[in-house]
Amino acid sequence: MNILEVNGLSIVDDKTDEWLVKDSSFHVKKGRTLAIVGESGSGKSLTCRSLMRLNQPWLKETGTVLFKGEDLLTLSKKGMRKKRGKQMYMIMQNGMTAFDPSRVIGVHLRQATAEHFNWSKRETERKLKLAIESVMIKNPEEVLNTYPHQLSGGMLQRIMIALALILEPDLIIADEPTTALDTITQYEVVNQLIGLRERMGCSMIFVSHDLGVVRHIADDLLVMKDGRIIERGKAQSVFTEPEKEYTKYLVSTRKSLSHHFNSQMGSP
Ligand SMILES: Nc1ncnc2c1ncn2[C@@H]1O[C@H](COP(=O)(O)OP(=O)(O)OP(=O)(O)O)[C@@H](O)[C@H]1O
Ligand SMILES: [Mg+2]
Repeated sequence: MNILEVNGLSIVDDKTDEWLVKDSSFHVKKGRTLAIVGESGSGKSLTCRSLMRLNQPWLKETGTVLFKGEDLLTLSKKGMRKKRGKQMYMIMQNGMTAFDPSRVIGVHLRQATAEHFNWSKRETERKLKLAIESVMIKNPEEVLNTYPHQLSGGMLQRIMIALALILEPDLIIADEPTTALDTITQYEVVNQLIGLRERMGCSMIFVSHDLGVVRHIADDLLVMKDGRIIERGKAQSVFTEPEKEYTKYLVSTRKSLSHHFNSQMGSP
């Protein structure tokens, strides 16, 4: 069963009439992870944000985005807000935009959990602490009382991942979730996401420049270039037998970069 089916998604900048994403079709199977790779500016983040309807108003989306059979592109703002959180959740590439700058992290996390669960105050604090510790943050109480601008990009990424672990969403869209992390933390965090998928059977879209991580986590793979999907298939077969020259180039140049990560993961 497909949890998400995207058909002919295009994104145009209304200000310049430029096509940024063109005729993109793909699906995500329940319990599986689809990775999206491609060079900077190829449209990965725009694609992810359009699934969550989080793009700026001048970016016009056409096509259909069926989430559990319902077209998200035609939903009202209120209807869409209800989807975000426990049903679909995005780990943003830039953590700063995901948090209200005027509130400490704890307020954000407590609000998000209160919207979806009926936990007591004590239970909430226990779950927050556990989730934050599981993304390798040793001082959860202190971090909960910190403003977003006081934290590094990597810390904010980890907080977003901690919230995903608490909410246990049906679909997680992770846009470069580990880029700002060191290798050891990356290893822990990726394993936490894999653990969540195994426990909950949730589905994932995973955008990354790091093909070592992608290889470890992805079932299926899309390669994007200049706003289009240029190659797709089972992740393993795209890695071992890429068809397009561009994909061959990506695979050959990125392999070496991820050597350290692979040795941590114990994969070749
Ligand atoms: N808010 C915006 N308004 C207009 N154009 C935009 C906007 N955001 C992104 N773009 C353009 O859309 C194209 C795709 O951008 P996108 O951020 O999706 O790339 P990406 O694949 O995520 O790149 P990266 O790997 O650097 O994160 C780029 O040409 C970018 O300049
Ligand atoms: Mg991006």
